[in-house]
Amino acid sequence: MTKKIFSGVQPTGNLHLGNYLGAIKNFVELNNDKENECIFCVVDLHAITVKQNPKELRNNIRETVATFVASGINPQKSIIFNQSKVSAHSEAAWILSCVARMGWLNRMTQFKEKAGKDKEKASIGLYSYPVLMAADILLYDAEVVPVGKDQLQHIEITRDVAARFNHQMGDTFVLPQAKIQENEQYIPGTDGQKMSKSRNNTINIFLPQKKLRKQIMGIQTDSTPLEDPKNPENCNVFALYKLLAPASSIQALREKYLAGGMGYGHAKTKLYEKADWSKSYAY
Ligand code: TYM
Repeated sequence: MTKKIFSGVQPTGNLHLGNYLGAIKNFVELNNDKENECIFCVVDLHAITVKQNPKELRNNIRETVATFVASGINPQKSIIFNQSKVSAHSEAAWILSCVARMGWLNRMTQFKEKAGKDKEKASIGLYSYPVLMAADILLYDAEVVPVGKDQLQHIEITRDVAARFNHQMGDTFVLPQAKIQENEQYIPGTDGQKMSKSRNNTINIFLPQKKLRKQIMGIQTDSTPLEDPKNPENCNVFALYKLLAPASSIQALREKYLAGGMGYGHAKTKLYEKADWSKSYAY
């Protein structure tokens, strides 16, 4: 049965492994299923909730589309478009903001994180960001929304907005389901926290090899030397390796961790080999 899929990515430049492994990889799988009707949106209106340089933003929009296509989304099969080119997104966001409750928005952890201590200084756009996201999804009757774990709260509020609207105005919107990547975890950054540009802990998708190597060699590891046998499941280098390598290579590296005698430098080099886009990911 045909399924309607919708998702969005902000064109904030330098997409990272969190974006790819948490979301874009899922987009590609959904695109490849001929039953699905997929729409992938470059959400520039969301990006301007923080200050942007217009020239860079225009470039980043193109770069995001290029990343979609390079990752394997087929533009002949799926729709790829730029949010601000369809004014219905802003219009629907206004209408839905008359339905959404402040109490719901006050609970959004992403707003709390991004606004920091002085919430009075945060823009209204940053605060009502989830309502625009609800508009994106509800406009297209999307049933499935592939996202990383950090966006789950936003999908929940989208469902709340849709349900409240339907209750008040009659059956109008489809209630969407989130689809998150298999192991349902945040993709960890170089400091072990959730990978994100604002935390400055990213491993970027497209980087000259030297810079990519530098990011990977900069991954913080714990103080116990890897030369002693170690459970690989407690190592963030291995966590990323597992997401990029085929099963046989994962097993081989797992055995090296358990045998001891290998340094972190070696484990990171193994990860680098898998993360180097120019040699293509393991898929
Ligand atoms: P954005 O642009 O911050 O991120 C794009 C996608 O990447 C995922 N992601 C991660 N997943 C796992 N681990 C990580 N460390 C990680 N970092 C990023 C995000 O979860 C996301 O799926 N609000 C959205 C964009 C948006 C949208 C929409 C998404 C706007 N309208 C409608 C779906 C449907 C955002 O800021 O994603």
